Parts: sequence; C-alpha cells; structure tokens
Amino acid sequence: MKALIIGSGGREHALAWKLLQSPRIAEVVCIPGNGGTAALAGCRNLPLSISDFEGITRFSLVNNMAFVVVGSEQPLAAGITDYLQAQDIKVFGPTKIGAQIESSKSWAKTLMQAAGIPTPDSKSFTEAAAAIAYIEQQGTPIVIKADGLASGKGVTVAHTLADARAAVNKSFSGHFGLAGERILVESYLQGQEVSVLAVTDGLTIRPLIPAQDHKTIGEGDTGANTGGMGAYAPTPVVDQPLLGRIQTEILEPALKGLQQQNIDYRGVLYAGLMVTPQEDLQVIEFNCRFGDPETQAILPLLETPLDAIILACLEQRLADFPPFEWKSAAAACVVMAAAGYPDVYPKGMVISGLEAAAETDAIVFHAGTRRVQQQVQASGGRVLGVTAVGETFESAIANAYRAVECIEFEHSYYRSDVGYRVKVLPGT
Ligand code: AMP
Ligand code: GLY
Repeated sequence: MKALIIGSGGREHALAWKLLQSPRIAEVVCIPGNGGTAALAGCRNLPLSISDFEGITRFSLVNNMAFVVVGSEQPLAAGITDYLQAQDIKVFGPTKIGAQIESSKSWAKTLMQAAGIPTPDSKSFTEAAAAIAYIEQQGTPIVIKADGLASGKGVTVAHTLADARAAVNKSFSGHFGLAGERILVESYLQGQEVSVLAVTDGLTIRPLIPAQDHKTIGEGDTGANTGGMGAYAPTPVVDQPLLGRIQTEILEPALKGLQQQNIDYRGVLYAGLMVTPQEDLQVIEFNCRFGDPETQAILPLLETPLDAIILACLEQRLADFPPFEWKSAAAACVVMAAAGYPDVYPKGMVISGLEAAAETDAIVFHAGTRRVQQQVQASGGRVLGVTAVGETFESAIANAYRAVECIEFEHSYYRSDVGYRVKVLPGT
C-alpha cells in the first residue's frame, strides 16, 4: 500500500516514520513534507500546496494511494476531506462540518453544552466594547480566545485587565484575520492540562495513551502560547480510572453529539483537558487532528501498526479491532525552535550534530527544516522535535535532552524544563 500525508511538521514526520514500520506500507508520500521526510527511507516529498485539493486528488488517483492522512487543521477546515471523498479517496480526518469542532470554538462550545460535556463557562462577542465590559464585570484571570484557527496562538490567559483589553483589541484589530472577528471570553481554570488523542470511525471512539504538552514559550509555562514546545506520554496525571472517565464523560458524548448532527467523523478527535486539583475534568478545546508535538511522543510507543488502526477507522471496523498495544515505556519530545518564535524568527541556519544525536538512540523528528544540497537548514519556527524513549518517564526526558545537546544551530531555543510538572507530582 501507498499512503499520502498532508503537512510539513514534526507530527507529519512522525506519522510517516510510524507508517513505514508496517510491512504493508511500501511508500509514503508527504505533501509538502520537510527536510526529515525527504531523507526518510521509503518516503518522498511532493512540492504541492496543501490547499491544492485538485492536485492532491489527481496525484492520489493516479498513484493509487490507499489512504490520505491529513496532519494539519487548515486543509480539514477548508474541506479537503469532502473534496477527496467525492473522488472515492479514503481520508483519515473529518469533513469540513466535523472539523468545526476545532475551527470554530463557539461551534465546539455549543456541541459540548448540548452533549453535557464539562467545559468552562464562556460568552462569545463580535465587538470589543461589549467584550471589555463583560471582562471588567468578571475580573481576572480570564481567557480570551479568537474563535477561528490561529495555530495555537489565538488564546491569551490574561492576568490583568490591561492584558485582557489588549488581547480583545488585538483580535478585533485583525491580528488573526477572519479567525479573530469573533472571540470567546472564558473563565480561567487551574490544573494540569492533558491531551487525549482518540481515534474514531464515527461509531466507536478509542483513546490513545494520554500525553501532556508545554504550550507556552517560556520556562515554567510562562509567556506566549505556541503550537507546543515539548510533550511526553503516557502522562502519570491520567491513570486508568481517569482515562475511563474521559472516555465516558467526554469522548463518547462528543461522538454522540457529532452523530446527532449526522456528522460522519473518521479520524482523530483530540480533547485538550484541564484536570483540576479536585480531579474535575473540563474540556478547554477539541482538535480535529493529531497533536503536534504530542504525536511525536505517542507514536514511538505504539506497537500496533498505525495503518491497521487507520484502515479500521476508515472501514468502520473499530469496534472489532483488538486493543491497541503499547510499549511499557515512556517517551518525551523536546522541541528545538528558532529564537523569536512564536513571533518573528530567523531562517536558513545550518543544523549540525544530527548524526551524533541519532547515535544516542533518539529520534529526531524534523519540523521546520529543508535540505539544501548536503545541508539541513532551519526553515520554520519549530525546527526539530527531539524524541527519546526510556524505561521511565525521567529516563525518557534525560535521553531526549542528551540528544538535544548534540545538535547545534545558530539562534536555537528550547525549553530546558520539559516534564517538570510531572516531576513535582507527589509519588512520581
Ligand atoms: P486552546 O487553543 O483553547 O487550547 O488554548 C490554548 C491554551 O491556553 C491552552 O492549551 C491552555 O494552556 C490555555 N487555556 C485555554 N483555555 C483556558 C482556560 N479556560 N483556563 C486556563 N487556561 C486556558
Ligand atoms: N500541541 C497542541 C496542538 O497540537 O494543538
């Protein structure tokens, strides 16, 4: 079988790497891919735009792709699945209407409220004055969210009224384009944030191992929100009983809510949850695709072939599929970024030390990289996802940092505290 992956991040490199471990997968093609997928044995990049649905369709038909995995949310929100399905191409990822669970935070809130899924109170606004009046009445801390897609950067946790007003004005002044023309003002929650990625065939839903991600740029979870600066799995914050509750209180009701709207959702449903100190569960967002960098930490532990899981979802056989098998180990991913990310950052820096890092047994997933002759150069904000497996959570983290230390490029930046929230948990 041949498989097509849409996207160019660390997540897509990890998906390609994992698919190619299956004896049934002869080739993976990435559109457009990155410097890592270009060099992966069995994989090649195709320089098409992820919004060229016509070109992607033609390529898939001519080259007989068994299925397409859509990595990033933008093409899903723009209807790539609807487009490809119209030509009988199998796509792992929801249709445009299902992708609204991520592409419209207010749509997702309405679904959650109707399905009885616990989520913080919120109100939606389309103009600044009313939003600011509401915020002044509620007080801080408070959370301001652009309604639409903003690559994880449209959310501000405001600790002062001045920050809250600035966030409202930023969104309504066009900083996030159309995505920010509506905002959600949400109550602030404290707790441990976890990412539970589940797969569904539209009839059954099953979680993968729970992960955690560090969303902000700064040490100690401070500073601006990013796409994610580091991840680890399985997180000890979610034990089996808690995962059981996530299944019955969140994942199953969400699937039911989608079904009630006649949405045939086949792909990943990712629940971003807050686990409060009282073990209360609250959904702060849903995503309609694999998480990045969570996927880089989850897939190295998956023993079940990924293509088998994907095909079971696409053919609606998930209820009969055997339990997913996992290595009894932990994995951690440290994101190496270009200094300045998530704002303005330099590109073109030459990356060295990748071979030395690979010798430590780490897996270096590429994100914003490209190959220029013999060189690997940085070409994006998040550059590499340096991932390692260990017998314990601590050893996975230590192994990942050992590999990070082998790698050098000018203006590199990474957080040195990935996993600290788990290390401070009693008993771990
Ligand atoms: P979202 O895109 O909705 O996941 O928000 C991005 C990040 O902002 C989350 O990963 C959290 O770290 C933070 N966040 C979002 N909503 C809340 C909330 N209600 N309370 C506290 N932090 C939040
Ligand atoms: N790491 C957060 C996300 O994928 O949305």
